[in-house]
Amino acid sequence: MTRGKPPSNVDLVVEGKVFLGESLEWACVAIEGDEVVGITSPSHAPSSEQKITYGDGHIILPGMVDIHVHMREPGLSYKEDWETGSKAALRGGVTVVCDMPNNVPPIKSRESLMRKIEIAEGKSLVDFGLYIGYTGELEKCSDLCVGVKLYPEDLAEPGLIDFLREAARLGKLVVIHPEDPELIRDGGTNYCDARPPESEISAVRKLLELGSGARLHFTHVSTSGAIMEILAKKAQLREFISFDVTPHHMLLNSNLYSTELFKIAKVNPPLRSEDDRKAVYGVVRGMLADAVVTDHAPHSLGEKLSEDFSEVPPGFPALEIALHLLLREILEGRLGLKTLNLYSSRPAEILGIRRGRISMGYKADLVIVKIGVERVVRGEDFVSKAKYTPFEGWRLATETRAVYLRGRKMLEDGEYLAERGGELICCRSS
Ligand code: NCD
Ligand code: ZN
Repeated sequence: MTRGKPPSNVDLVVEGKVFLGESLEWACVAIEGDEVVGITSPSHAPSSEQKITYGDGHIILPGMVDIHVHMREPGLSYKEDWETGSKAALRGGVTVVCDMPNNVPPIKSRESLMRKIEIAEGKSLVDFGLYIGYTGELEKCSDLCVGVKLYPEDLAEPGLIDFLREAARLGKLVVIHPEDPELIRDGGTNYCDARPPESEISAVRKLLELGSGARLHFTHVSTSGAIMEILAKKAQLREFISFDVTPHHMLLNSNLYSTELFKIAKVNPPLRSEDDRKAVYGVVRGMLADAVVTDHAPHSLGEKLSEDFSEVPPGFPALEIALHLLLREILEGRLGLKTLNLYSSRPAEILGIRRGRISMGYKADLVIVKIGVERVVRGEDFVSKAKYTPFEGWRLATETRAVYLRGRKMLEDGEYLAERGGELICCRSS
């Protein structure tokens, strides 16, 4: 099963049950410097300075690629910072994150982007791509950002079409939070009614009708209606449209808004009806979604428990558990193993980077997952500053044993082995 002939001696060989995109195979991954230089059967493995075997009870996955997170720094580091956020990523088996621009102040200029890069380079334990906000200096930032993020309030801007055309000209990815501000209304504590499914469907429709030629990516899509609109358009314009979904919209529904978790579970877009949840789950099972993302959106616990529901900020952390929630579905037989590609190789393809795959010529990002453990999700155990989750009490059967970032071991048995080391992701400009 040799794939690519490695040199006769390499820095590191990692042996075990390896996920090669389709299935698990007992194999040796040969690593030289920061790259995978070959994948062989054990009998054909090259000699190496170091060899590590992860036996039964482990699987070896590519580092996950999460293209929607909020590390909050600069500006909101009481909620999260690059150290705690990237440690949460490693624990969740994530080696590449793409961070949103809604810092304080928002990241819209080359200067603020450069400052964020400097901070992240000094503290992040995972590689990172960065988005800029509307209407950032797109051309000036083009070489430093992976794309641009549009928020609901940006969707009503008269200058939007020109901005999208510029993004198209520069070949930049446009990530859209699709909720139409005109259809969002203040409601009671049933948050799903306050931000109804129609607002998402309307935002998707408006963007698709603009015909800007830009490369559009709809994030955290949560309703069957929006999914239908996107899939219909994708059938004609596959190269230009993609979308992702989150574990929370796959696995939780709006019934949580009538429980004591209603504040913790407040998120934009809201948790939806059981029918919508099933639709979101279905596009993951059918591999029709292009990616799974966490939308890791930490806030302080004090903020999340604000007396007045309207003041509770939307979002919650998820980087530490997303992969393990997916593995739970896989191990219990509800999703196929290939679902993992939606959180690794497929988002990497959206960015145009050679990550998220254990393959020759790819960066050696490996996640060693222990299987057959019994544990329970507890927010208080998170390394994120946000120590709560709407998945409180969920049972998991896997945990992250070790993580290699570009060939370097960053985490093992709960210990972080580096203080920094994350690098800026350079991206496609087609
Ligand atoms: C986001 C955040 O906290 O940054 N929250 C969320 O619920 N997704 C902001 C947002 O997307 O509205
Ligand atoms: Zn977000």
